[in-house]
Amino acid sequence: MILKSLRGRSLLTWLDFSASEIRYLLDLSKQVKDEAKRGEAHQRFTGKTLALLFEKRSTRTRCAFETAFGEEGGHPVFLSTADIQLGSKESVEDTARVLGRMFNAIQFRGFKQSTVETLAQYSGVPVYNGLTDTFHPTQALADILTLEESFGGCAGKKLCFAGDGRNNVARSLMVICAKLGVNFTIITPPSLNPDAALIERCTPLAAGSGAAITVTADLAAVQGADALYTDVWTSMGEEALKTERTGLLKPFQVNQALMDRTGRKDAIFLHCLPAVKGEEVTADVIDGPQSRAWDQAENRKHTIKAIMLATLGAVKA
Ligand code: CP
Ligand code: NVA
Repeated sequence: MILKSLRGRSLLTWLDFSASEIRYLLDLSKQVKDEAKRGEAHQRFTGKTLALLFEKRSTRTRCAFETAFGEEGGHPVFLSTADIQLGSKESVEDTARVLGRMFNAIQFRGFKQSTVETLAQYSGVPVYNGLTDTFHPTQALADILTLEESFGGCAGKKLCFAGDGRNNVARSLMVICAKLGVNFTIITPPSLNPDAALIERCTPLAAGSGAAITVTADLAAVQGADALYTDVWTSMGEEALKTERTGLLKPFQVNQALMDRTGRKDAIFLHCLPAVKGEEVTADVIDGPQSRAWDQAENRKHTIKAIMLATLGAVKA
């Protein structure tokens, strides 16, 4: 089944998507994952091209886009800022206009959210946000898929993020959880609270889906959590803040004692990766039996393939 409303769409943040559209993408992700496990080969991107623009480094996101597109017969082209003019000698608008004439879709990873929005506005093709300073939406879809694989569904579950509460991963989780009815708690020092504007936008969405968004500095909030999530204390581009962040976030480390404070033996641990073991998470937790971080990494590929299939209209009717 094709969900027509997704055809031609860009994914800049989940704020622009309805719960049923996200549900469709999760179901399609499960379908393509099952196909992969059965060893099926498809050629749904034959004759199509994808530009992969990277201002920041990546392992998972680049590899997920490149392999998901290429193995289905598409031609992905990796372009770092060392290769192209983007924003230096040529405006983002003009780059978008040119790439839109040569590619069927564009992925952008970089600093400003406004860059990915401008690419979407001027290219005329679907543009995928592969991480900016403010959002990481493709990651959040893989995170929810992983939650659903562990618990059979996501609505009504409790997901706690402990760490830098204003980073791209925490902010994207807030949006997708609000849309899908997942109770989402950010546990962070007050100076790293997410911006009030996003909380104000997500709170009514969460009320509509039957979930709650909570921001607190109290680690006791992990009680009853189905999943504990963390991310690096210092995101890409913020390296100068490393010492300050380490001081602020040390008490928020996810270790076995914090996992145990959930009171749930079946609680899972999630991390978008890359991880700094010994900082935001201890090695025994991320490499231990409660960790689903490696499934999460694999799910990046299946979810990204589903997003591209749906937005490029490449799903069979
Ligand atoms: N989680 C994630 O986006 O990983 P990369 O930075 O390796 O792409
Ligand atoms: N918050 C991290 C996520 C990396 C996938 C960063 O932006 O560096």
